[in-house]
Amino acid sequence: MDTALVIGGTRFIGRHLVDDLLAHDYDVTLFNRGNHDDPFAEDDRVDHVQGDRTNDSALEAAAADVDPDAVFDCVAYYPRDVRAATEIFADVDAYVYISSGDAYGREEIPKREDETPMRPCSPDQATDESDDTYGNRKAEGDRAVVAAADRGVNTMSVRPCIVYGPHDYTERLDFWLDRVLEYDRVIVPGDGTNVWHRAYVEDVASALRIVAERGEPGEFYNVGDRRIVTLEEMVDLIADTADRDVEVVHAGPRELEAGGLSTDDYVLYRDYPHVLSTAKLAALGWESTPLEEAMARTLEEHEASDRDGSEYDPGRDAEERVLGILDTL
Ligand SMILES: NC(=O)c1ccc[n+]([C@@H]2O[C@H](COP(=O)([O-])OP(=O)(O)OC[C@H]3O[C@@H](n4cnc5c(N)ncnc54)[C@H](OP(=O)(O)O)[C@@H]3O)[C@@H](O)[C@H]2O)c1
Repeated sequence: MDTALVIGGTRFIGRHLVDDLLAHDYDVTLFNRGNHDDPFAEDDRVDHVQGDRTNDSALEAAAADVDPDAVFDCVAYYPRDVRAATEIFADVDAYVYISSGDAYGREEIPKREDETPMRPCSPDQATDESDDTYGNRKAEGDRAVVAAADRGVNTMSVRPCIVYGPHDYTERLDFWLDRVLEYDRVIVPGDGTNVWHRAYVEDVASALRIVAERGEPGEFYNVGDRRIVTLEEMVDLIADTADRDVEVVHAGPRELEAGGLSTDDYVLYRDYPHVLSTAKLAALGWESTPLEEAMARTLEEHEASDRDGSEYDPGRDAEERVLGILDTL
């Protein structure tokens, strides 16, 4: 495969995917609306087609003009998007849909592609625009991938867990980076052993390419860090990377209550562990970046950015009240 069309490609995962494809000698074309800043605008290795992916004629025109070997779909949030794209790109060597670990419909550890059931998706959910139905819609997109593969289309799906790394506009990890950089004492909700599997963005990018090159049609591939860290280990890793001394303070629901807080006020906290098996992807030859390296690159870009994750801040005053209570125990 030599030519790739990336639907999206200028924001976060897609942006790293473009870097990865260029590093592997692909000719890359981006398809997007041009609403976001384009880091590749001046890069003459990258071609651009402007269009809205919800407009089938625009995608059809891109398919005819570019005639790509591989298509990477970073912007399919509705089953309809996947159905249309798998029709329009029915002849490509690989169409890779970015699904999500949220497509899984049962809590189990780990969640496996061929064993853990997917979420259902009703006709109303399939067109619903709220965050509540995100996982249902992603799961239905996965079913569209299987249906297309059954028709002979080379479609695959990649399911990332929570993605982090440079240019992460969600700012979820930025909150924790900022906490470690700003404070000597960092509250970690619960007992610190809580696990919400994360995926370093460059590894998601390489997973997308490897699945296009070596994946089997109709198959799903989870992607997440091979070495999973708990929330407390993640804070320690950030502190080590930033060369900061921080005291991790555990606060359970009762202690948090003193500040009017609950464990749910903390981003990347989840009661039941969310863990994706990455064995199927690793069997294709995919490897993940060592955590120390991933965190060093993430921290470096965080410090150069103006992101601070403050939208997730539970409030330092409230936390100070919790710390005050804990100090008297
Ligand atoms: N972040 C996570 O933790 C996570 C976890 C699991 C799965 N995912 C999945 O990863 C994908 C998102 O990745 P990303 O935002 O990082 O990708 P990205 O490709 O870097 O950014 C999104 C791109 O889509 C373009 N776009 C948005 N709406 C469009 C439209 N209607 N037509 C054409 N282009 C459009 C945007 O540019 P313009 O606005 O200029 O068009 C932008 O280039 C999603 O499918 C998401 O569900 C993310």
